[in-house]
Amino acid sequence: MIPAGKFVGRAARAVMRTFTGSNLAQNSVAAEGETSVTAGMSALARQAAAEGCVLLANDATLPLSTDTAVAVFGRRQIDWVHMGNGSGGDVNPPYLTNLIDGLEDVGARYDHVLAELYRSWCADPRHAMDPGFWGHWPQSLPEMPISPVLAEAAAANAEVALVVIGRTAGEDQDLAPEPGGYYLTEDEHELLQAVTGHFAHVVVVLDVCNAIDLSWMDLYAPKVSAVLIAWAGGMEAGNAVADVLYGRVSPCGRLTDAIARDLADHPSSATFGQTKRQEYTEGVFIGHRHFSTYAPNEMRFPLGHGLSYTSFSYEPLGCERQDMRVYLHLCVTNVGPCAGRDAIVAWCEAPRGLIQKPLVVVAAFSKTGELRPGESEEVTLVAELRDIASFDETRRAFVLERGHYHFRANDVLLGKVTLDEDVVFERLEPICSEDVDLRERILAHVEGLRSEQSGVSELALPELEALTRGAGTMNVAPGPAGNAGAFGGTTPELQARGIPAVLCADGPSGARLARRRSLLPCATALASTWDTGLVRDLYELVGGEVAEAGVDVLLAPGMNLHRSPLCGRNFEYFSEDPVLSGHMASAVVEGLRAAGVNACPKHFACNNQELGRNTLDVRVDERTLRELYLRPFQICVRDAKPRLMMTSYNKVNGVWAHYSFDLVTTVLRGEWGFEGVVITDWWMQRSRSPEFPLLRDNAYRVRAGVDVLMPGNIGRVARGHRVHPSLLESLDKPDGITRAEIEACAARVLAFATQTKR
Ligand code: BGC
Repeated sequence: MIPAGKFVGRAARAVMRTFTGSNLAQNSVAAEGETSVTAGMSALARQAAAEGCVLLANDATLPLSTDTAVAVFGRRQIDWVHMGNGSGGDVNPPYLTNLIDGLEDVGARYDHVLAELYRSWCADPRHAMDPGFWGHWPQSLPEMPISPVLAEAAAANAEVALVVIGRTAGEDQDLAPEPGGYYLTEDEHELLQAVTGHFAHVVVVLDVCNAIDLSWMDLYAPKVSAVLIAWAGGMEAGNAVADVLYGRVSPCGRLTDAIARDLADHPSSATFGQTKRQEYTEGVFIGHRHFSTYAPNEMRFPLGHGLSYTSFSYEPLGCERQDMRVYLHLCVTNVGPCAGRDAIVAWCEAPRGLIQKPLVVVAAFSKTGELRPGESEEVTLVAELRDIASFDETRRAFVLERGHYHFRANDVLLGKVTLDEDVVFERLEPICSEDVDLRERILAHVEGLRSEQSGVSELALPELEALTRGAGTMNVAPGPAGNAGAFGGTTPELQARGIPAVLCADGPSGARLARRRSLLPCATALASTWDTGLVRDLYELVGGEVAEAGVDVLLAPGMNLHRSPLCGRNFEYFSEDPVLSGHMASAVVEGLRAAGVNACPKHFACNNQELGRNTLDVRVDERTLRELYLRPFQICVRDAKPRLMMTSYNKVNGVWAHYSFDLVTTVLRGEWGFEGVVITDWWMQRSRSPEFPLLRDNAYRVRAGVDVLMPGNIGRVARGHRVHPSLLESLDKPDGITRAEIEACAARVLAFATQTKR
């Protein structure tokens, strides 16, 4: 039990006011005044944005020389896409750079008259960017018409045309599978036609949140000399893209998803967009896993694709297995004309056994340092065999079938590991299945819970109840304006006991607050660097900005998988690949921790579509769930030990994730040993427990082991305390919630709050 006042340190005193707030709800937060930029941030953000750019094609037009005259087309040169929309974007940055700023910065020779034309066209109120509103942001913008005369005049003065095409995406809104969404608009086609009709060298820069259709590459070939994907790259994006275009940085980003020739070729396209119930009929075969196994020709670019201005040779230096780890050694030499870094992606080809498996999966990855021409680096990649094992529902365990495991990186065989026998990992309970007697499983767990948890046994029930809910709204005072809410000691009673409140802020693109904070490259851009060290360092700086604002928790990383290129929040997520996603998420967690800030990985689990995200029932077989969608979370929990986790809005096999005993208690805490606090995504769906009909809403949630409802609707005043009726109404009734269950959640929250604010 905490004596009143014991933990009232400086931080706690700062929140010794009853929390008030507003439901800023999901709207963007008006920016407060200027602030200085964190030392080192601009350079690192610029590096990350540049190294996250992926050069898809290049006929040697790139890199450009600053002596080459270029003409820049497309309004996005001015109205650059720096971030996605919603909680995963919406940062108020200290400054922004667009492509023209970047061209100025590198001293490029570009057509100023054309740029000025674009600038004044964009500034004309008739063409102003429509800001849209929550869930209805325009994904593309009308283009300035380019007449043949204008194109011809520009071509008379420039050798190379740069064409910028932009797409945003955002929360609560998927990318539309139509022109302006996944496909080019009529305007954009006209622009490409006009430019390719007059220029022999056209470089297309895709300033996008998601991968988009690339069939136009065939249409306008061979005039399209190069295509560069610049993911929504944050505040330094314009400078970063110019760095790549002009060879200050040799491109070293690689795709984190396969890009299909045709959207329909993605197996997820069969069901994506359904809003009530969505069967993941493709099982583990999403993206590259599907294409490489069944339809290599349907893949325009494989996962891992990305060109460089230099070239590398690879010398395998052997591999060895130590228990369930494989160490792959190679020597990478820069054999090309300029300095550059190289991403090494090690693929594993498992033996064809009884389990049908993808032909290859990503097993490990690394990034070299900057290598000058002729310079070499020895690299060791570490592949965790457990992370590439298949889940065998018959044996109820992850399994590595006997046979040869071939590891290749960048088309070179690095080594082979042979298993003489099947390796069968620990046996696991069936989860998220209607065939399981969930009631029995939950009862067994509840019986095992000890009451009188340390620190909370003396708390009154309303106090315990308050610990299982956030302060009530977003934007709580006295937190910084624009925060996402608070939990922990959010009532006067709890604060009087010295229990501090924990303040949260979004999100994956940097701290989403009213005050100015750095805007990072989006998660897909960061993952495209394949450089966990860089991501870790960047997030350490972000952590400093979060802490400086008095915020304890950054609601990031987002780590759902890119099941379809259309998911509106793909930009907040890293990849279609669970291993890459898991390691990138770990880097985020570790970076934030180094700055004394907690990460909150999200959304656990299967939040792979925005349309109908609150109602959608994802139907997924256990193998797919474990092998794909849970795996990044498992890797992150194992390697980085986050102390928080956010559930998702959707249902998984009939049960909302925020009520899922199996996801939270059986898997996350039971199998993976997670000891932290589980919070809901913001608000939750009301429901009764099918297993225990007396339990509804908060009681149903607490029984599942989901500790905190965020932001924690206020509830009503009862006996002098604000409580939400649903938690306590069944207390001590047969099958009702028990004090021990509430204490278990409250104790975790208390431990987190007091350790966080120590
Ligand atoms: C999003 C979360 C976010 C939360 C708070 C929700 O709508 O799904 O990712 O952290 O809002 O803004």
